[in-house]
Amino acid sequence: MRLLVTGGAGFIGSNFVHQTVRERPDVRVTVLDALTYAGDEASLAPVAEQITFVRGDVADAELVDRLVADADVVVHFAAESHNDNSLSEPWPFVQTNVIGTYTLLEAVRRHGTRYHHISTDEVYGDLELDDPAKFTPETPYNPSSPYSSTKAASDLLVRAWVRSFGVQATISNCSNNYGPYQHVEKFIPRQITNVVDGIRPKLYGTGENVRDWIHVEDHNSAVWAILERGRTGETYLIGADGEENNKAVVELILELTGQPRDAYDLVSDRPGHDMRYAIDSTKLRTELGWTPRYGSFRDGLAATIEWYRANEAWWRPQKDATEAKYAQLGR
Ligand code: NAD
Ligand code: TYD
Repeated sequence: MRLLVTGGAGFIGSNFVHQTVRERPDVRVTVLDALTYAGDEASLAPVAEQITFVRGDVADAELVDRLVADADVVVHFAAESHNDNSLSEPWPFVQTNVIGTYTLLEAVRRHGTRYHHISTDEVYGDLELDDPAKFTPETPYNPSSPYSSTKAASDLLVRAWVRSFGVQATISNCSNNYGPYQHVEKFIPRQITNVVDGIRPKLYGTGENVRDWIHVEDHNSAVWAILERGRTGETYLIGADGEENNKAVVELILELTGQPRDAYDLVSDRPGHDMRYAIDSTKLRTELGWTPRYGSFRDGLAATIEWYRANEAWWRPQKDATEAKYAQLGR
């Protein structure tokens, strides 16, 4: 199989490439990545010999057409992915998430290529803390931020290209990922690297917001289940029943790093901050037989802390600029 992976130098995409090279020697991987602030070729260094890397933009129609012509399957991870950035500067989110997806869809339409679209549960908006409901594939779209609205727009383009043009596409909407190679702007790596630097972790608002955590390896094994057994035109929700509130996550990071559990600060809240996400992954589990392998959040988090401790050379170059951005926001 000739596989084109967009955004393969980012967090989830690089883990997907590692997993694919490790477990599927018959797959020939090409990565297309623009290496924005969020992409890092160093994340692909361990597999550099086994893949082809192309630096370029998913909205570059001529380049995308050439790469898609040479692929059997496209998995589209590339995106602007951080809510806080989308509130400060929305335009790159419209350009990459909407126009970039449009550009890929037109190419896979021309070449009849199988396409998998990586998306987020944030397209569904948020849930109340005391609501027993979880997101299902039938939940109406109700995105809150420029990030989630541009991801929702991209999902709707995929659905329309399936219905109108018969594109062979699947979509997955996954909950919050954690694991190695995640940019230090994101919640868990930011707090781990803060602790390493002797800075107190920072919780937005009251810290009561809930996210449904999944290890990145489990997300990517689900993507492979969809590529191998998913029905085209279908949407699959990926989640591992990992609901935790932000305060509990910070307390666990502090405990696992030998700090007092209350050694954090509350900072000003994110505007429009979604309260709770929760995924019902019944369809993925029953239809495709997928199950997560990382059962314990505590163990997965401990391993992630170890990874950041052992790989300071990977994240250190980003840390100061990231914290400077947050300082400007007062967070
Ligand atoms: P990331 O920000 O770590 O990586 C994004 C990658 O895309 C980077 O390597 C970047 O250089 C590249 N990129 C950005 N704009 C590009 C462009 N115009 N052309 C080519 N490459 C470009 O993001 P991530 O956390 O790995 O997320 C990957 C995908 O998974 C996204 O589509 C995101 O919406 C989705 N997702 C993320 C999470 C999560 O918890 N991180 C959860 C569910 C879904
Ligand atoms: P984030 O990693 O940005 O993911 P998302 O916004 O896509 O869920 O944030 C996860 C949660 O952590 C979210 O509720 C915002 C919160 N948060 C903090 O409390 N402090 C922080 O420093 C950051 C970056 C996020």
